[in-house]
Amino acid sequence: MSQPLLEIKNVKKHYQVKSKNIFSTQKNNVHAVNDVSLTINEGETYGLVGESGCGKSTLARVITGLIKPDSGRVFIDGEDFLQLKGKSLRDKRRTVQMVFQKPYESLNPKMTIGEIIRAPFDIHNVYHKREREEKVKELLDLVGLSEKYMSRYPHEFSGGQRQRIGIARAIALHPKLIICDEAVSALDVSIQAQVLNLLDELQKEFKLTYLFISHDLSVVRHVSDNIGIMYLGEIVETGDADTIYSSPKHPYTEALLSAIPKAHPKQVKTQKILEGDLPSPINPPEGCKLNTRCPHVMSICKTKPNLESIKEKQKVACYLYNDQR
Ligand SMILES: Nc1ncnc2c1ncn2[C@@H]1O[C@H](COP(=O)(O)OP(=O)(O)OP(=O)(O)O)[C@@H](O)[C@H]1O
Ligand SMILES: [Mg+2]
Repeated sequence: MSQPLLEIKNVKKHYQVKSKNIFSTQKNNVHAVNDVSLTINEGETYGLVGESGCGKSTLARVITGLIKPDSGRVFIDGEDFLQLKGKSLRDKRRTVQMVFQKPYESLNPKMTIGEIIRAPFDIHNVYHKREREEKVKELLDLVGLSEKYMSRYPHEFSGGQRQRIGIARAIALHPKLIICDEAVSALDVSIQAQVLNLLDELQKEFKLTYLFISHDLSVVRHVSDNIGIMYLGEIVETGDADTIYSSPKHPYTEALLSAIPKAHPKQVKTQKILEGDLPSPINPPEGCKLNTRCPHVMSICKTKPNLESIKEKQKVACYLYNDQR
């Protein structure tokens, strides 16, 4: 089997934050990402799903090299990304690009669209200066925008158009992996579909690999080959998209899926409800992190279950299925 494009092994990132009590000097430990491993093959779309604050963006920042993890390793094309330095680090960074959550905030309002899309060429000194404008026009055309927009500023565009500009900037340096961090969450449903179609077309044309991050399982379903479900900094279930949707195993995945509205009113929905609120990532529950909300909780759940294979393409971290008791 060919080597995966991205391999993350046991990545952990905790943040030290000051206590909310202004008289206390105590620091709290936010468990943002806790021992996460995942593999993405070339040309695949991996959907990473979980509630707000479960650590999705932190993981994305680790993969792009924007933050260093406390421990764990990140391999891109088989190379240990966190050990690279100098030119090899710069070259590797070019292969991973990001499309951000907020199209309104991720584009510099003082730069024209031409300057924004051209910036990666200037920073990495790619193409001759005279060629760069032509390349910007080609990129605008690829994402379905007219070249006449080059001299306009971000505020003159709609949310969907801005996200197209963000995508043009992301593909400018021919990356292999694009991380779409809630890239369509801020858009209207019809515009969401257009941007998703654009991402799909670009994936086919340039053999791109996507890590598609979203809190919305229904969006992820349509674009992903494989899916990872995150809860409080950990992946609790992973598998190919069809298996996750047709036979979810983890009680958290079941609850997320049952929360998706059904398209037809006659489709009966049995909602699996989790009790209580999402615990704080500061001092989260010991063992399985869902043990404070899970309807099937057992005494063994006070110890952490491993993410274990239960079928060829499905892994779950839950004692209901794992033979670790
Ligand atoms: N720089 C930071 N300092 C302290 N805590 C942080 C920092 N960045 C993130 N966190 C905390 O880490 C946890 C995970 O945050 P993260 O942004 O990765 O979540 P997320 O899954 O992307 O959420 P959302 O869906 O809202 O974007 C949260 O509790 C967050 O408050
Ligand atoms: Mg986020």
